[in-house]
Amino acid sequence: ITSALGRRSLVLVGMMGAGKSTIGRRLAARLGLRFLDADIEIEVAHAGMTIPEIFATHGEPYFRDGEARVIARLLDSGPAVIATGGGAFMREETRNRIRDKAVSIWLKADVDVIMKRVKRRADRPLLQTEDPVATVSRLLEAREPVYRTADLTIASRDVPHDRIVDECIDAL
Ligand code: S3P
Repeated sequence: ITSALGRRSLVLVGMMGAGKSTIGRRLAARLGLRFLDADIEIEVAHAGMTIPEIFATHGEPYFRDGEARVIARLLDSGPAVIATGGGAFMREETRNRIRDKAVSIWLKADVDVIMKRVKRRADRPLLQTEDPVATVSRLLEAREPVYRTADLTIASRDVPHDRIVDECIDAL
């Protein structure tokens, strides 16, 4: 499998709650690669500010610029499994970088699965709305056509994580 990847990284894209961090960590262990979580790297780069704090203090456009820079750096740091935040793949420049340096997998999840997993909504500033289900549906609708352009698509659903990890490895 690592030979199919060559020196490329594996990048997980998709909505919040799709399981990018959980699946990514296990995939990395199975493939013998490092695991990098873009959301955590952004927090580290901001002296430990949390993502909600970065949104609240500096706003979303600032967060998005930082996110794009962090992902560019992670992609340049050698082969790894990289979990990206749900909005990262929406930026064309980031998509092009990912295409150059990595194989991308869209972890495709529906609204029910996402809502079940995104229990700690305080962690997700975009879901601080009156109707988070409507917000997730709207985001999904807008983002799916772009997520779809990832190299591979794996359905992230309510089955043991290891099964999804197996499916990712089989697809590579
Ligand atoms: C976001 C997803 C979050 C985080 C930020 C914005 C999004 O990451 O980057 O809250 O735009 O979907 P996860 O997908 O890891 O939850």
